[in-house]
Amino acid sequence: MKHEAYETRISELLKQMTLEEKVGQLRQCGPSLAGAFGVSFEELLNMMFDGKISREEFERQMSTAEQDFHEEDLRAGRIGSYNGIGDAATANRLQKIAVEETRLGIPLLFGCDVIHGFRTVTPIPLAEACSFEPELWEKTARVAAREATAAGVHMTFAPMVDVAKDARWGRVCEGAGEDTMLASLYGAAKVRGFQNGNPGAKDSMAACVKHFAGYGAVEAGKDYNRVDMSMQRFYEEYLPPYEACVKAGALAVMPAFNDINGIPCSVNRWLLTDVLRDKWGFDGMTISDSNAIAECVIHGIAEDKADAAAQALAAGMDMDMASDCYHENLAALVESGVVKEEDLNRAVADVLRVKFELGLFDCPYRTDTAREQAELLKEEYRGIAREAACKSMVLLKNENVLPLQKEVRLGIVGGLADAPDEMVGAWAIGARGEDCVSILDACRSRNVPFSYTAGLKECNADGKAEVDREALTRVAEESDVLLLAIGEQKNQSGEAASRADITIAPEQLEMLSVLKESGKPVAVVLFNGRPLAMPGVAEAADAILEAWHPGVEAGNAVLDILFGEVNPSGKLVMTFPYAAGQCPVYYAHINTGRPGGRGKFTSKYLDTPLVPLYPFGYGLSYTTYEYSNLKVEQQEEAATVSVIVKNTGKTDGEETVQCYFRDVTAKRVRPVKQLIDFEKIALKAGEEREVRFVIPYDKLGYLDMEMNYIVEEGWFEVSVGGSSADCLTERFEL
Ligand code: GLC
Repeated sequence: MKHEAYETRISELLKQMTLEEKVGQLRQCGPSLAGAFGVSFEELLNMMFDGKISREEFERQMSTAEQDFHEEDLRAGRIGSYNGIGDAATANRLQKIAVEETRLGIPLLFGCDVIHGFRTVTPIPLAEACSFEPELWEKTARVAAREATAAGVHMTFAPMVDVAKDARWGRVCEGAGEDTMLASLYGAAKVRGFQNGNPGAKDSMAACVKHFAGYGAVEAGKDYNRVDMSMQRFYEEYLPPYEACVKAGALAVMPAFNDINGIPCSVNRWLLTDVLRDKWGFDGMTISDSNAIAECVIHGIAEDKADAAAQALAAGMDMDMASDCYHENLAALVESGVVKEEDLNRAVADVLRVKFELGLFDCPYRTDTAREQAELLKEEYRGIAREAACKSMVLLKNENVLPLQKEVRLGIVGGLADAPDEMVGAWAIGARGEDCVSILDACRSRNVPFSYTAGLKECNADGKAEVDREALTRVAEESDVLLLAIGEQKNQSGEAASRADITIAPEQLEMLSVLKESGKPVAVVLFNGRPLAMPGVAEAADAILEAWHPGVEAGNAVLDILFGEVNPSGKLVMTFPYAAGQCPVYYAHINTGRPGGRGKFTSKYLDTPLVPLYPFGYGLSYTTYEYSNLKVEQQEEAATVSVIVKNTGKTDGEETVQCYFRDVTAKRVRPVKQLIDFEKIALKAGEEREVRFVIPYDKLGYLDMEMNYIVEEGWFEVSVGGSSADCLTERFEL
């Protein structure tokens, strides 16, 4: 937000700055690895993915490569920010050059992807959202901010609040799933946690909400693909989470790679200026996604990098991440009059303002190696990571297998049970494998007797994994209960990780069927970054715990739940399809004129069940809950909904009571359900409680064909339950 003092200092600085120094403030560089085969980080990564170098060689190069920080440019005032500096010593060394060796001493801004923890990696956002606990989301963001700022980070490129309804998209792991309201609450909680109401504090970091906007709606779930939809749907379903983050005070916004109806976000003036600044009042800074400005040429909306630079600046893009379009072209564009200097000044002012908000001018060195060593991976933070992991896990099935008895002999199968570095999931760039606890590690530390096999022989000639039937049979014979750890490795989700086929790998299914032949109960633990199409697992397993990629405390949290020390309470925030062909599949769908059913001529697939495998909001517990007495009482401005929830089992637990609504008849057809409120309550065995929701009528509206927000008279439905697919429903009339 604007402070008189800052504005004065900003305009003073602008008067002193040369054209080149202004352009320099809009340039963010990443450490390029000139020493690694003389190629960039991205090229080195592709060499690994293309099999030209092994992962070990890649990591050796990464660790030994001479990182080139373009220090000559830095001294000349041609760099304003760096991405990916992950340690205090390097950050302070570069900051010293900026502050003491450049003409004006403007401090650097250090950005980094701290998406779900820095060194103490917490569950992926798609998992943590399943806790339905905004206080937890904020708490883990505080931990991330304390660690990251100790390592020299000033801004995180998070929260990612792209509403996502297509599990084929790899980046669903980074957000809060398919629901607009939940993503809005999640994002705002993260902004509060990162910035802590005082961005200038040394343990606060700027939130950079991303990817603005609608990236989660990429066609066919294919990353970087087009996004094209009605403005009504865009405003109703995709924009609100970004707005919630702006309203929560986010200091930065990152436009998305994709286009919106044909205009790439990076050069989309309607989005970056009319909506973000004029309509929402955002006065922070915008920073492009990596190389996104240059890619506008490839999109086919800019002639060349100079044209892309001119369009991006005019649209409202302040900082250029990694493409150097601004660095190479803006000065000449201003001198030639193509770009107005006032537009350049506005962008520079936005960046300087954030640096003032972060206190960097008065205190450019916010950390040191002593603080860094003291802060990272504190036991307190591990405890919070373990709590978050337990609350993120979702019990999908349990046929009297769980919780396990203390003296059980466990047969553990599957490489993911013994893969600590796979537990952190995508975008855990500060993670270290040695920090992570696998299921086997947790068993050892608890002296739980177990036998184990990865279950697969070495890959056979055609690279196919072959199930080791003897090993499986041996483990089964030695055990009372079998634990099968399957799902995805961390690089199977995240950026550039869309999958057209999201079924469980065949060898994992085969392991399950071999274990089932033993007659012993089989509990599946899923480690994955997206909903998977797994009807075979749902059918065959006796119990299924969705553990996601749960972070450094993975193994401990899994055993906390399996042995009943923690009663699972997670609820799915994204629908699980039967098959990839059902995607996108989501609960807040419209009814159509022929909702799927028995009749031939109804909306369905010939080869797949009508409903998804597991619905939004679903999650079991070791106890059971009963809902009764749903009532709706209408007042002048709102409806009060009440319901009785009873813990009808023998175990204390926590239940997320969900409240949905439906506008039954409207000028545009409306979803059959929309989450409008929820409350997570603790109930002791046998305890019952009344839960009440107050629903203001003005929250029940939608956009008509002229884009007017309207709340109409007529019938509405209210549904309350422990899952979107299992509710009590009442009607009321407005
Ligand atoms: C990546 C991602 C974005 C990330 C940025 C900086 O391409 O799209 O989410 O913040 O680069 O690393």
